[in-house]
Amino acid sequence: MRYLYSPPNKDSRLDHMGTYARTLPVSLDRMYENALDWEHLPHLHDSSFTDIECLDAGGWGWRARVKDPRGRDSLLELRLDRDCRRWITRNIEGPSQGAEIWTHVFVTAPHQLDLVIDFFVPGVDPTAREKVGRAYAGAYERLYDEDVEMMTERQRQLDKRVDGPRDQDTLFIPLPDIEDLPLRVNLSQREFLLNQSGGQWVVYPAACPHQMGPLDGELSPEGEVRCPWHGYTFSVITGECTSGASCRFGRVPNLAVQDDGLMLSW
Ligand code: FES
Ligand SMILES: [Fe+2]
Repeated sequence: MRYLYSPPNKDSRLDHMGTYARTLPVSLDRMYENALDWEHLPHLHDSSFTDIECLDAGGWGWRARVKDPRGRDSLLELRLDRDCRRWITRNIEGPSQGAEIWTHVFVTAPHQLDLVIDFFVPGVDPTAREKVGRAYAGAYERLYDEDVEMMTERQRQLDKRVDGPRDQDTLFIPLPDIEDLPLRVNLSQREFLLNQSGGQWVVYPAACPHQMGPLDGELSPEGEVRCPWHGYTFSVITGECTSGASCRFGRVPNLAVQDDGLMLSW
């Protein structure tokens, strides 16, 4: 972990607990998208957040009430400043009231950037600052470990998006080739999942219609799959979002069960 600490500066407006730095294999677009995406916090980062209620959000950032795993509420605000490639997260109310996290990004290649995060926490004894700073750095390391997977998978999905014809292909999958479920298959350069629900074969998109999260998790007994990025659930039978969002699955191929295998066609 790249954590940097320098002795307290008595002229600082805010007490500096140290800096966490890391390189991430993502573009600036994915990084901004991630910073503005308040909705993923209690789903992707469920060891840090258990609930969120957004009060306001826009291209400027967001303000939200969050709950941590100890049941404590905080009011957070994130403000994005694209000109400075920076966002500041402020703890407005709650156990860390007054704390500010300043994140700067430096683009080093089209899909690579350096992240520099400074932690400012009021009222910490100078002798305890390094310990507090290391705790913040550890927490942010975990958050970005979780985020980097989401950002790189979303980029992979965006890079392979195709607009070509959808209806010229068929695919036969012999039954002996189906070992673990769900089985990922490609048809017309699109990825689908084959699975069983209530004893019936089903086929559905491998990527979530919201922001392309992975839908390869387990099905519920009702035939629902939950996307890990923002927690939306979908019926793999009807394609509807069952958690209230307006998105739904796009077109899926027809599935015919034959004696020796499964046939997918448009
Ligand atoms: S990507 Fe947001 S719920 Fe799936
Ligand atoms: Fe995140």
